[in-house]
Amino acid sequence: MTTLSLSDQAIAILRGNDRGGYTVPTEGLYPYQWNWDSAFAAYGFAEFDLPRAWQEIETLFSGQWQNGMVPHILFHQKDDGYFPGPDVWGTDKCSGNAVSSSGISQPPVAATFTRALFEKDIAFGKEKLEALFDKFVAWHGWFMRHRGESGAICVTHPWESGRDNAADWDAAMANVDASNVGDYTRRDTSHVNPEMRPTKRDYDVYLAILYFARDNGWDEQRILDDGLFRVADPTLTFTLLRANRDLKWMGEQLGRDVSEIDGWIVALEEGVKSLWNEDIGCYDAKDLRTGLFAGNVTSAAFLCWYAGIDDKRMLPHLERFLIASPHAVASLDPTSPHYNPKRYWRGPVWVIVNTLIGIGLEDAGYRSEAERIRSDCARLIEGGGFAEYFDPEDGTPAGGGVFTWTAASWLAWVSKDPKEA
Ligand code: DGY
Repeated sequence: MTTLSLSDQAIAILRGNDRGGYTVPTEGLYPYQWNWDSAFAAYGFAEFDLPRAWQEIETLFSGQWQNGMVPHILFHQKDDGYFPGPDVWGTDKCSGNAVSSSGISQPPVAATFTRALFEKDIAFGKEKLEALFDKFVAWHGWFMRHRGESGAICVTHPWESGRDNAADWDAAMANVDASNVGDYTRRDTSHVNPEMRPTKRDYDVYLAILYFARDNGWDEQRILDDGLFRVADPTLTFTLLRANRDLKWMGEQLGRDVSEIDGWIVALEEGVKSLWNEDIGCYDAKDLRTGLFAGNVTSAAFLCWYAGIDDKRMLPHLERFLIASPHAVASLDPTSPHYNPKRYWRGPVWVIVNTLIGIGLEDAGYRSEAERIRSDCARLIEGGGFAEYFDPEDGTPAGGGVFTWTAASWLAWVSKDPKEA
């Protein structure tokens, strides 16, 4: 019997989760195309099948709304294994696109990974990038227009952050009346252990926020003015700032006018300052409905370097996280009263976020910190497979072992010799 190498296993996962032009995050739990999962998939495919990598991004943009938004889920084909599906979101009449989708977006890492695809073979990628460039500009412009009013980028649903049940949302979610959501059947808890997922109350709130937006025809202004949830988010702000820098670079390669993107970069460099919470000395989420910071140090704050902001004030926090967990970086400060090493975004280590943090640290010249993160991720995957996330204390894998984005991160960053990364 031959044993497949981890890279061969990772390739097999990407191929196995390929549904023909797009990749599902994993079989069962997530049966559709998710936005940032797909961007990671492209990053991984680029290591062994560049045309397929470009196709992943093209398929993602096939769901772009007329207003520029690229949704967080594209429902290419019906699957009863997931809730809430397309009929619950009810976006078909307002998206201006025949592809059914959710009504919110997700962290915009796609431009950054598209740049990685482009740099692998500029001659091959030029035509593809020409076709995608204006679509990226429309999407990033949508963020700046509809999520950027505070200077930082906000989320109008916890799912938009990608960090569904992070402690960042606790106070804002506590203010949401979810008494009218009625009965529904969750599907996630039939795939994985409920102890590792968001709670029932979390789900009620997710639905209440969704129903408000749907019942208001997904009208962005109405959602901002009267919606139930509006929180400025370090993940969105840092990933968009980085994505704008990469989009600008790509625009320059194509000879495009990038002055509008330049303006966005300047605005976000200023906007991130509004996320600095003096009380905890860290970038933090801020509830725009109450003006209050969440008060948590999360792994999202370590994306400052990824965004091109070398903020030395963040280094002691990073050192603290690296010392606190044998498998770092935990998604929430291990000293936080909300920390739970098993529950999704309230403590577990996510290889994908670690990859983004690691890329940023490398770019900023923090080689030894990046190496610690890379070797922790490698050890977790070697011991526990391509899980969705891992316990930072004992490395236990969770969520299932064939996750597209963990496999992609392995191929494109974790397994790389730092000199080539
Ligand atoms: C879910 O359903 O768990 C997703 O994270 C929403 O995007």
